[in-house]
Amino acid sequence: MIPDILENIKTELVKGTTVKGHPFRLCVMATVGINNSARIRTVVLRDVDEHFNLTFYTDKRTKKVTHIRENRNVSLLFYHPDLKTQVRIEGFAKVEEKEKAIRGLWDKLHDDAKKDYTSAEAPGTKIGHPDFITHLKDEHYFTVIRVLSQKIDYFELKPHKHVRAAFSLEDNNKWNGTYLVP
Ligand SMILES: Cc1cc2nc3c(=O)[nH]c(=O)nc-3n(C[C@H](O)[C@H](O)[C@H](O)COP(=O)(O)O)c2cc1C
Repeated sequence: MIPDILENIKTELVKGTTVKGHPFRLCVMATVGINNSARIRTVVLRDVDEHFNLTFYTDKRTKKVTHIRENRNVSLLFYHPDLKTQVRIEGFAKVEEKEKAIRGLWDKLHDDAKKDYTSAEAPGTKIGHPDFITHLKDEHYFTVIRVLSQKIDYFELKPHKHVRAAFSLEDNNKWNGTYLVP
């Protein structure tokens, strides 16, 4: 049933943020580059709410942040190898503006994780060797990306009968779903 598929997607996404080693902890985020090229990278899913809004952490100096500020359209790709299930989500991304919300999440990070957002040089800067990276002590570039999901495309690979379904967020804030030919 279509509503069950949507509920299962949510369950697996939530597991991605709560169950150690769950494949949905990682996804591929695609942004639109400044010359309209597709730009992709792996990111960690940090949170999903009941409306399928997704949260990611990043360094505010990364290209993805620049892209999102120019063009809010993003796509996310999740794959579960045991369930042979692919979930693609399209949505509108924004960089969190509430300093208090960012600080709250920053405070909860372990010291090791905080290092990901404190390199003295911006991510993507050329260096001679990974050992040459230095870290700032009292400053950081941690920020939060929120994705407001608008469309979900589901594909389950089965031996005899694949299942594909599409969902879109309607004006009444409800998800409308249909099966599709795989
Ligand atoms: C397993 C894995 C997880 C990653 N998680 C994140 C993440 O949560 N946030 C992030 O900004 N970059 C993460 N990265 C690094 C990105 O894939 C990417 O290389 C980096 O953010 C620069 O991307 P950009 O220049 O396209 O913005 C991760 C990389 C790997 C291999």
